[in-house]
Amino acid sequence: MTKATVPSKKRSALTTTVFMKRMMAISGIVFLLFVLFHAYGNTHYFEGEIAYDHYAYFLRELLVPILPFGGFLWIFRAVLALCLLAHVGSAFHLWHRNVKARGNDPYAVKKSNAEYFASRYAMRTMRWGGVILLLFIIWHILQFTTLHLTPGGRYEHGRAYMNMYYGFQLWWVWLIYAVALVALCLHVWHGVWSALQTLGAIRGSVIPFVRLIAFIVAFGLFFAFMCVPTAILLGLTPEPMDAATYAVEAANAGINWMGK
Ligand code: HEM
Repeated sequence: MTKATVPSKKRSALTTTVFMKRMMAISGIVFLLFVLFHAYGNTHYFEGEIAYDHYAYFLRELLVPILPFGGFLWIFRAVLALCLLAHVGSAFHLWHRNVKARGNDPYAVKKSNAEYFASRYAMRTMRWGGVILLLFIIWHILQFTTLHLTPGGRYEHGRAYMNMYYGFQLWWVWLIYAVALVALCLHVWHGVWSALQTLGAIRGSVIPFVRLIAFIVAFGLFFAFMCVPTAILLGLTPEPMDAATYAVEAANAGINWMGK
């Protein structure tokens, strides 16, 4: 019997697709670990202004004196930026390949069944969710890292508690975060499932378990992230300290941004 052979052009396209999917899965998992860590970190807000700002300061002080002050955070940012490039780049590549493949067959939809529509729906949600998240990340960095956008006024480098407090006095800022987090939640829900499938970690009997875990992680993230902005908007968190009191309290806690 003769063995069926796959033309080399098709084989290399297949290899690239598998590679791109793996890259997307791995970068997505790194991002997921980051957002889980970030959501947990944000809950320090409820411990008060000094505790929260100390946490932001501590992230910059990690591995000092092996690294300069802030060095660890810069490495962390570089890894995240690389993962973002890999994730968006591979998503774009796979989307482009898909469009090209469907472009040859204008009647593809007529041949489809319910499963085809379900997977197209999930893909579209992922795509639009991804675009919303990308725009959100740009907004978010301009608001809380570079302080170029200061809705609510009175933002200062190093006073993360105060910046969040004034930002989330505004309902529309809260809404921006709520919309982005709905997108994140749906993205993670499908993404966890899809990544584990790509990496071959899902087999028959574990399917319901993985579905449940993906659901809990996604909705858990939504609640963990949204509890702080919601508490601020509802006036449940104390106002930030005035500059003089803050200077004394921060110095007592070992927070010293002077010259850094
Ligand atoms: C309610 C939701 C969120 C709040 C209140 C929040 C708050 C903050 C704050 C205050 C900072 C600055 C921290 C500092 O100065 O050390 C920050 C940084 C950051 N956040 Fe969020 N965040 C939220 C959700 C997210 C989500 C969903 C993502 C990603 C999808 C994200 C990605 C980032 C990134 C990439 C940084 C920059 C870290 C840096 O380089 O300084 N955040 N966030």
